Amino acid sequence: MTLLDELRGVVGQTHVLVEDDLRRSYETDWTGRFSGKALAVVRPGSTEEVAGVVRTCAAAGVPLVVQGGNTGLVGGSIPAGGEVLLSLTRLDGLGEIDEAASQVTVGAGATLAALQAHARGKDLDVGVDLAARDSATIGGLVATNAGGIRVLRYGSMRAQVVGAEAVLADGSIVSRMAGLAKDNTGYDLVSLLCGSEGTLGVLTNLRLRLVPRLRARCVALVALEDTAAAVHVLPGLRDRLPELAAAELFFADGLALVRGYAGLPAPFPQEYPAYLVLESAGRNDPTDQLVEAIAELDGLLDATVATDASTQRALWAYREQHTEAISAAGVPVKLDVSVPLRALAGLVDRLPAVIAAVVPQARPIVFGHVNEGNLHVNVLGTGELAEEVTDAVLRLVAELDGSISSEHGVGRAKVPWLGLSRSDAEIAAMRAIKRALDPQGLLNPGVLLPD
Ligand code: FAD
Ligand code: MLT
Ligand code: ZN
Repeated sequence: MTLLDELRGVVGQTHVLVEDDLRRSYETDWTGRFSGKALAVVRPGSTEEVAGVVRTCAAAGVPLVVQGGNTGLVGGSIPAGGEVLLSLTRLDGLGEIDEAASQVTVGAGATLAALQAHARGKDLDVGVDLAARDSATIGGLVATNAGGIRVLRYGSMRAQVVGAEAVLADGSIVSRMAGLAKDNTGYDLVSLLCGSEGTLGVLTNLRLRLVPRLRARCVALVALEDTAAAVHVLPGLRDRLPELAAAELFFADGLALVRGYAGLPAPFPQEYPAYLVLESAGRNDPTDQLVEAIAELDGLLDATVATDASTQRALWAYREQHTEAISAAGVPVKLDVSVPLRALAGLVDRLPAVIAAVVPQARPIVFGHVNEGNLHVNVLGTGELAEEVTDAVLRLVAELDGSISSEHGVGRAKVPWLGLSRSDAEIAAMRAIKRALDPQGLLNPGVLLPD
């Protein structure tokens, strides 16, 4: 029997996709920068089927690439060539909400938007939110330890995870799904799987904590002079606004690109250099508090406040449409870095010259999650010099004591630069963990760690 026949035996004939046109949408990433051919796309419908697929591939010595919603931005869910692509989207079950614990069990293939709608039905919500919510899966969010626009309030994905079920590279199933608030019985495998980018195990079910649904919201767009002004106002905002839920930064060039792409009106009668989207959210209307805090901001150039849902969405669109607007303008080099807040303004000031030194006509568009010192450095028009631009930017970030990946992960895109953020000893420890759990190197080879 061939490998494909064996896989059909595990998941059923219709869930092994071998024809080019059926595989195609799985084989290129969201940005269009990464693509590769899979031997087949396999779509298991249960944890046991995932285990069967992994065991079958392990016996044949054929590696696997794990994929959720394929919204990752670093090429981690795309085959290098010849792997079996394991798509988790059929594992999309939404368990009953445990109101006593404010927790839920969810299939790894459920989308973030589906879980949000499910939780909101019980006046609860998911602590992580991001613009790819309609396609990004819970398994993908955990595997990348995704961040997003609510980290300031609730932390990254790892902080939401209280349990996981996963299939390891030998086909065995590990399951810690009780959602215990306290559990000190040795190594924290669940936490290890968070951010492991599909290299240590295939997540099949997750147990997540939920947060209260905050119905009363106020969103503001604030104009400032520059990054330094934005960083300067942060401590006061955090101090005055315990209900602050988001603080997102973008600049005049990004706003112009977004407006041109989405046909949006100008937010203010005149242009300003830098903008902050602020959101406060609570059980009671946070508008007065937010307005008072904004009125006292040092260096305030202008501000507008939205209290109803549609105007709030309109203000958020200036920020959330950045990713699509940039991709519509070309295939960008997408870098996702963080530096200590004290170094953030220096990074923004130095980036244009560092990029221009490699490609003078390149077009950087920068935006991001300012409270975490996390900037998305997108560079359009790098042509053949994408790797050189990446190198120049990541070396600058390392010089400023930063991280080469703040939230998207290392994937395939940043493997050569891992050593800028991790010491030799750390990489050796990571390799030892990988070897122990996946001695054949079956899961996501070439992702995160150099082969
Ligand atoms: P995929 O892209 O399918 O996979 C991502 C990685 O996880 C791959 O390495 C894959 O092998 C692995 N993986 C997927 N599922 C599993 C599983 N079940 N078990 C083990 N490994 C698995 N990211 C942020 O952090 N913050 C943002 O604000 C943000 N905004 C975005 C906005 C847009 C418009 C887009 C397109 C992307 C954005 N992203 C953001 C990136 C992306 O949405 C996240 O990385 C998300 O977590 C990926 O989920 P996914 O299901 O699409 O995973
Ligand atoms: C975001 O914050 O919008 C994202 O992480 C996506 C991106 O970097 O484009
Ligand atoms: Zn982001």
